[in-house]
Amino acid sequence: MKISPFKVEEWMNRYESGALYDLTTTCIKPLTINELCGHVGINAFDIPLTYGDITGSERLKNNIKSLYSNQELNNITVTHGAIGANQLVYYSLLEKGDEVVCVVPAYQQHYSIPDSIGADVKMYFLKEKNNWLPDLEELFTVVTSKTKLLCINNPNNPTGSVMPNWLIEELAERAKQKNVWILSDEAYRGLNMIGNPYSQSIADIYSKGISVGSMSKTYSLPGLRLGWVCAREDLINEINHQRQYNTISVGVLDDYFASVALENRNLIQERNFKIMQSGIKTFTDWLTKEDNVECVIPNGGTTALVKYKKDMLSRELCRRLQNRTGVALLPGETMEMEGYVRIGFCAVALEQALGLFSEFLRS
Ligand SMILES: Cc1ncc(COP(=O)(O)O)c(C=O)c1O
Repeated sequence: MKISPFKVEEWMNRYESGALYDLTTTCIKPLTINELCGHVGINAFDIPLTYGDITGSERLKNNIKSLYSNQELNNITVTHGAIGANQLVYYSLLEKGDEVVCVVPAYQQHYSIPDSIGADVKMYFLKEKNNWLPDLEELFTVVTSKTKLLCINNPNNPTGSVMPNWLIEELAERAKQKNVWILSDEAYRGLNMIGNPYSQSIADIYSKGISVGSMSKTYSLPGLRLGWVCAREDLINEINHQRQYNTISVGVLDDYFASVALENRNLIQERNFKIMQSGIKTFTDWLTKEDNVECVIPNGGTTALVKYKKDMLSRELCRRLQNRTGVALLPGETMEMEGYVRIGFCAVALEQALGLFSEFLRS
């Protein structure tokens, strides 16, 4: 099976580890096992390293269920990160010739995997003038009754936009009228900066709604490689059938530590909100002083999409910036958004890095 290069992941593999200031990051400073377990006095050395429960332990599934209002254990399967979850959804639902509408910018999986399966992929681009939120009138000229699956990412990476609950509900209502599945990549769910940190989840309100979640962003545990899918039972059964060919189970330690994290999520979220609040303040202070950029201020997630006023392609800009200053940004082109860069506002040493970016923009 041929598939396009995954541009974001290729860029990060190449440039992230050499950076002095890594603003490509989408994670909030990952936790150590000591930080995660220290305060609850857990010692994991005696856990037998078996395959564990194949589709996720009951304890973990119960913890995941507690993040939703309308899910049962048989609506949940545990996967190798959100990346594994998304892939399994596409493999389970799509066939050659199916029509898929993807709201972009989005994680590239959402258009390149359907494309590799032979689906007819249509892209609907979010617009800055709409605060990077979908205009449903416009979107539903692209989504028709021929569409099998609509894919959204909420909160959105890279723009940090958060769909308000009324918009998610209206989206679900319109999709229902057209009998369209919705895959909502909710890897950043729980990171809203205004109001309830958790947006409405599509699986809770729509029978053809599929929600993908992750331990990587909201719970600062990307190294666990643990995600999940919530969807109606017949789809979960199909996913579990596919899943046997590429997962067996997630690591038994991943399953265990994810449970510990979700059981103590208030502590993790308190810590993360402090980092986010300080990051967004530094970022918005910088925006007000920096005339060479424009940006819709994020209200969730961990990233912002910044338009720069410099006559240079985004890959070239990021390469030169990193060579000269050690600051790594993600070129917008890797997310089909030429003329922009993505900035992770929860990054370490953000203020210094933004200062260096400003100097670069002036030079
Ligand atoms: C929108 C989105 N979905 C999925 C993923 C993959 O996350 P995970 O680490 O859970 O596999 C990412 C990672 O950056 C992401 O931004």
